[in-house]
Amino acid sequence: MRPDDLVHFCPPGRLIIGCGSRSQLPALLERLGLRRGVLVTDTYFVHQTPWVSEYVQAAREHGVDTLVFDGGLPDPTTVLCDDATVHLRVALAGRPPDHLVALGGGSNIDLAKALCLTLPTGRPIRAFVGDIAGQRPLPLIALPTTAGTGSEATPGAILLDPQNATKVAVMDNALRPQIALIDPEFTYTCPPRVTADAGIDAFTHAIESFLTIDSFDYDRAGHADPGYSGRSSLTMMFAREAMRLCILWLERAYTHGHDRQARIGMAYASAYAALSYGSAGLNAVHGIAYAVAGETHKSHGSTNAVMLPYVLDALRDVRRAELLEIARMFGLSTADEAAAVRAVPRAVRGMIERLGIPTDLDAFGVREPDLDAMARDALGVTRLAKAFPVGDVASSYRSIVRNAFDGALSATA
Ligand SMILES: NC(=O)c1ccc[n+]([C@@H]2O[C@H](COP(=O)([O-])OP(=O)(O)OC[C@H]3O[C@@H](n4cnc5c(N)ncnc54)[C@H](O)[C@@H]3O)[C@@H](O)[C@H]2O)c1
Repeated sequence: MRPDDLVHFCPPGRLIIGCGSRSQLPALLERLGLRRGVLVTDTYFVHQTPWVSEYVQAAREHGVDTLVFDGGLPDPTTVLCDDATVHLRVALAGRPPDHLVALGGGSNIDLAKALCLTLPTGRPIRAFVGDIAGQRPLPLIALPTTAGTGSEATPGAILLDPQNATKVAVMDNALRPQIALIDPEFTYTCPPRVTADAGIDAFTHAIESFLTIDSFDYDRAGHADPGYSGRSSLTMMFAREAMRLCILWLERAYTHGHDRQARIGMAYASAYAALSYGSAGLNAVHGIAYAVAGETHKSHGSTNAVMLPYVLDALRDVRRAELLEIARMFGLSTADEAAAVRAVPRAVRGMIERLGIPTDLDAFGVREPDLDAMARDALGVTRLAKAFPVGDVASSYRSIVRNAFDGALSATA
């Protein structure tokens, strides 16, 4: 423990982890008195896996009826959510569901989270951006198939707003899933690209929340129930184990997708990372990555990855002790502590390169004249910028973006 910690820890209602644990779900729903659900997924899971039909059948045997919606798409938009709301309210024919189940990666989970608000009300999701205005969402059961975004443990749904090509967040602790069921077997079919992008997202969650602003210093803006509230000894405990597992298993899961131990290791890593960042929150990597995604439309994980080494480099003075810890996890020599701290961003960049992700913004397709606007847009995401633990956030963001374009890290010698 750290004496100054102000812990406000918000996990999902229940966290179930285990190979084959999906078979426990129907009996649990029956016990909880849930009887009528909507399963939100995409066509891959309906047509290429037995998981949807097996679940629907097993749930029926426990007295739980399920309507399947397979219209999920990567990076769901507000329009997709509103169209799905209209479609499902017609299909439900006036008999409202008492829960939703999400099967898929972060995209399907986020769509389902949003539907937990829009299905009971019929209102467009934009009405809930920024503040869910006291609306009680339907209970959500999240079954992640990537490792991962950690959305199964977080208070937010991230949707693309096609009107201005930005991502908007619908956020409240009430949106945290009632049940996060992590069955590592769901991830065995992940193709290498999805494994790498989702895995580096989990690593970013762990490392970014490990280095973020302290809970004592976090600006809660008077909120009685903040979703995110800075790092504490509790969140850092989960972050440490998540980082250790990612360093051990992420590359192996990417290169040898059939390695069960690697898949299970990454499933735990993703869950632990979510338990860290799901309360501590994030900052510059995600803040700038949203702007990079706006420019390039590349995957969430890869936009985080391209920024991560340069943000770590900017923290080498303010988070020296923590970076030294990470250096040890990478097996770097710490005989010269300053050199070890400077070596961490390079070690992370090497890992990103081996995962087949470009390691600078130029190679990523960003145009040099757009750098200033990207830094400005990133600073506009104030909930993330305010948590970056440096004195002058604006000038730090500008030099991070510049360094990321040039591929420039501080010298290791
Ligand atoms: N709400 C949050 O807290 C949070 C956090 C991080 C990211 N996100 C969001 O999550 C999304 C990214 O999620 P993601 O990285 O999990 O990818 P994804 O959900 O977008 O899925 C990518 C593709 O992989 C496929 N796929 C997923 N699991 C598979 C499996 N087991 N086998 C075969 N194919 C599989 C999907 O069908 C899809 O086509 C982004 O929209 C991002 O904004 C949300």
